[in-house]
Amino acid sequence: MRTRLELNSTGRASFTGVCILAVQLVGRTRRSNQMNELSLSENDFRSFRDLIAERSGIYFEPEKQELLKDNLLQRMADCGLSNFAEYFNLLLSPACTKEFDHLLNLITIPETHFFRDRAQFRALERFVIPEIVKKKSYPGASLRIWSAGCSTGEEPYTIAMILAAGTVDRPIQILATDVSQDALKAAREGIYTARSVRDVPQDYLNRFFIRKGNHYLLDESIKQMVEFRYFNLVTEPYPLIEMSGWDIIFCRNVTIYFQAEATRKVIHNFYRSLREGGYLFAGYSESLRYISDEFDTLQQEGAFFYRKGVPKKEVRKKDRKIRGRRRTTTRRSRKQGPKAVAGTKSDEIAQICARAKELLERGKPQEAGEILSPYLRESSAPESILLLQAEIALNQGELEKAVQLCERIVEREPLSVAGHYLLGVIYLTWEDDARAMEEFKKVLYLQPEHALARFNLGDLYSQVGQFDEARLEYANVVRLLKKMPESLDERFAGGFSPAVLIDTCLSRIRALENKG
Ligand SMILES: C[S@@+](CC[C@H](N)C(=O)[O-])C[C@H]1O[C@@H](n2cnc3c(N)ncnc32)[C@H](O)[C@@H]1O
Repeated sequence: MRTRLELNSTGRASFTGVCILAVQLVGRTRRSNQMNELSLSENDFRSFRDLIAERSGIYFEPEKQELLKDNLLQRMADCGLSNFAEYFNLLLSPACTKEFDHLLNLITIPETHFFRDRAQFRALERFVIPEIVKKKSYPGASLRIWSAGCSTGEEPYTIAMILAAGTVDRPIQILATDVSQDALKAAREGIYTARSVRDVPQDYLNRFFIRKGNHYLLDESIKQMVEFRYFNLVTEPYPLIEMSGWDIIFCRNVTIYFQAEATRKVIHNFYRSLREGGYLFAGYSESLRYISDEFDTLQQEGAFFYRKGVPKKEVRKKDRKIRGRRRTTTRRSRKQGPKAVAGTKSDEIAQICARAKELLERGKPQEAGEILSPYLRESSAPESILLLQAEIALNQGELEKAVQLCERIVEREPLSVAGHYLLGVIYLTWEDDARAMEEFKKVLYLQPEHALARFNLGDLYSQVGQFDEARLEYANVVRLLKKMPESLDERFAGGFSPAVLIDTCLSRIRALENKG
C-alpha cells in the first residue's frame, strides 16, 4: 500500500489548480536557497522511491537519496511548489499525469553511444539477421526490430545503419521506445557529439553523418528508418497487436536500474512480444540467469544474447501432458468418434475459448493452439475459435495461417466485423497497407462506430501523407469513445482503456498540427 504524504496547508481540492500552474510554467525556475535546505525525511524518501519504482521500474537505492532529492527539488521549483508533500500528491493526482513524465526526464539515465558493445552488433549482422531471413521466408516477410529503452537514439540508429549498409531485401521496421520525452526529442533530431560517435567505424561515419562544427548530423535516410515512440516497459499489459511478433528486441542497460521483480515482468513481456525463435539482446550486466528460464543463451562473435525457447519447466509439463492426452484421445475417439467435436455446445466453446485466452495471456500460445485445434478440423468450426486461432497465429508471426483462418470466417460470414478487423491487422503486420485499408473500410461499412478500425485507418492515412483524413479519423475516435466507451472492442484493445486510446489520438492530432 502506498502512503499518502500529509499536506501542510493546501488540500486535495487544489490539485487541478497546481496542475495547470505546472503545465503553464515554461522553463526552469531558479531554486531558492530556502528550498535547497528542505530535508527529505526517510519516510518521504521511501514514498517517492516506491511510487517511482511502481510506475517506471527505476529503483533508487538508499545511497541515491540525495540525487533523488535534487531531482525532486528541481521539479518542485518548476511547478512553483515548496514542499515534498505537495509534490508527492501532485504526482498522485489523476489530473496531472504529465508531471510524472517531467520527473522521468530528470531521473532516467540517458547514457548511450553508437555501436555500444560492438560485439553484439557483429552478432546481429553476421548471425541473427541471416538466421531470421533464412527462417522467415514467406512472401512479404519483413524484419521487425524493437529497441526498448532507446534513449537518444544511438542504439536503433546503429541497427538502421547496419541494415542500410547490408543486403536485406525486405521491408524493415525499427521501433524505438523510451519513457524520457527529452531523450525521444533528441533522438528524432539526430544531432550527435563527437563523444557519441566515437565508436562508429570510419566508413559509416563518412557515409551516414555530416560534420557541422562540433556536431555530427545523421543522414535523413537513416533517421527515416526508425520510428520513435513513448512506451513505458512496466505498464501492463503490452498491447497484443502492436507489441507482438517482433523478430529482435534490444533492451540493454535499462533494467539495471530495476529490481528483480520488475525485470522479471519486463523480460516475460518480451518473451510474449517476440516471435517463436526471436532474439533478445540485453546489456552485459543484465544476465537472465536468475530472471527467466524462457530463453536459450547463445554466444556468437564474442557476444552473449538470447533466443526465445520453450521454458524448461514447460517442456517437462508439456511432455507429460502430451503423453497423457494421447491416452485420453484414443479412448475418447474409440468411444465417441469425431461426433464429439461436432456436437459441441456453445458453453463448451465459451469455456475452451476462455481457457485458450488465459493461456495466451500467460504467454503460452502453443498450448492455447493445442486446445483449440480439435475444434478447427470441423468445417463448421465456430467463429470464436477461428478468431482466437488466427490471433495466436498472428502472435506467432504465422501470417499466412492467420490470413487463411480469417478468410474461412469471412467466406462463411461475409458480414463478420471481427473477421475483417483481424484481417486488417494481419495485413498491417504484413505491411500490405492497401489491403489493410480495404479491410478497415469494410469494418466501418459494417460498423461505423468501430473505434479501433478508425484508429488504424488514421495511422494508415497519416503514413501516406493524407493528413486531413488522418486527423478526421483520430477526431472521430475521440468523439466516439467519449460518447460510447463501449465502442472499443476489448478483444482487440490489448488491455488498453478508452481513455488511453483517446489520449493517443489527441497526441497524434497534435503531432499532425503543422502537417499538410
Ligand atoms: C542507459 S539508457 C540505455 C540506452 C541504450 N539502450 C543503450 O544501451 O545504450 C537507459 C534508457 O532506459 C530508459 N528507461 C528507463 N526506464 C524505462 C521504462 N520503464 N520504460 C522504457 N524506458 C525506460 C531511460 O529513459 C533511458 O533512456
